[in-house]
Amino acid sequence: MDNFNFCSPTEFVFGRGRENECGKFVRKYGGSRVLIHFGGGSAVRSGLIDRVKQSLKDEGIAFCELGGVQPNPRDTLVYRGIELCRKEKADFILAVGGGSVIDSAKAIAAGVLYDGDFWDFYSGKKIGQALPIGVVLTIAAAGSEGSGDSVITKEDGLLKRGTGSDVLRAKFSVLDPELTCTLPAYQTACGATDIMAHVFERYFTNTREVEITDRLCEAVLMTMVKETPRVIDDPYNYDARANIMWAGMVAHNGIVGVGRSQDWNSHAIEHELSALYDCAHGAGLAVIMPAWMEFVYSHDVMRFCQMATRVFGCHMNYEDPDVTAREGIARFRSFLHSIGMPVNLSELGAKEEDIPTLVEKLGLGEGRTWGFVRLSAEDVTEIYKLAAAAEA
Ligand code: NZQ
Ligand code: ZN
Repeated sequence: MDNFNFCSPTEFVFGRGRENECGKFVRKYGGSRVLIHFGGGSAVRSGLIDRVKQSLKDEGIAFCELGGVQPNPRDTLVYRGIELCRKEKADFILAVGGGSVIDSAKAIAAGVLYDGDFWDFYSGKKIGQALPIGVVLTIAAAGSEGSGDSVITKEDGLLKRGTGSDVLRAKFSVLDPELTCTLPAYQTACGATDIMAHVFERYFTNTREVEITDRLCEAVLMTMVKETPRVIDDPYNYDARANIMWAGMVAHNGIVGVGRSQDWNSHAIEHELSALYDCAHGAGLAVIMPAWMEFVYSHDVMRFCQMATRVFGCHMNYEDPDVTAREGIARFRSFLHSIGMPVNLSELGAKEEDIPTLVEKLGLGEGRTWGFVRLSAEDVTEIYKLAAAAEA
């Protein structure tokens, strides 16, 4: 196991009705003038925004609001948020929504305290400070409620880029599983796919002797395999929603990836798809991740066999481990298909003829990515082609 630091300072406030306490937590973490940031309408329609406002009023906390965050959040709204925070002298941002809202809130939080263009942070500059943020989560997916990451799309050129810093981690995150019961089945499945992908990005490692994190990863994956079909069949199943919501946090706050090298190439390859086609990130991953697995499994067949046998219950073929590894990948793809995810590029709404553009935008040039297997532009092209040809 490698040396590591692990910092997860967020206070998680879990359970039914806990959003009614968010005013108390804003006060606890020093907020007195709050920007409430939210998405395209689901949190307004459900009455959640009204409950959040009431909770702030109960604590005597002033607030302003900025809705309209789109999935794959845009830089243009971030600039408006920064301006609004400065005008209203906001000292705390409360993100009410999913990964897109939280990531937009994080970008605003960093941008408000920075003299330059906030996009610098998404082009490699280190973030020094940010306004404190709180979260009321409405979808189990991106894990942004527990992560220090943020991903924003620059409208000009459709560049989707990420940044990360512990200063972006939320002070508190309210996780009420009941809030996720209104999610359509498709969004639920996209979220489940993203959660599994966050684990796989860490699971496929070149670091040896990492039994504890391997087992934690497998626990999250097996939970998702069990609970996702339950909520697709029965969206109001509180306990299944609760298990998924906590799995989504555990998958991405860093704890299952400590002490080991990680991959993240499927995410980088997918981000080009959601940037170009504005598809859901989880749906893009459903197409890319099994294709990536097919491309790289021979690098460490036994690690793929471990996934196949432990997570998907495949029989170990000692004569020909390739068979087991491939069966594990096939079972993962058919699981994703069974929960309603696209299997190939065309089902996602992407075009095979755009592959050169997608590869170009990734900007590898003659170089290679980092990760489990370091990929060249030619390798990424092959992965997109495998994703185009895949069948259920
Ligand atoms: O905008 P509204 O009307 O709220 O609708 C949203 C949106 O259309 C809807 N929704 C959310 N909660 C709902 C609901 N509909 C009904 N009932 C509810 N309770 O769901 C749609 C998707 O929301 P979004 O926030 O985009 O989903 P998600 O949480 O999957 O976030 C995706 C974004 O996060 C990024 C992705 O790239 C993508 O941009 N990621 C962020 C990460 C991070 N910060 O750590 C890591 C991830 O790997 C990921 O890249
Ligand atoms: Zn993701």
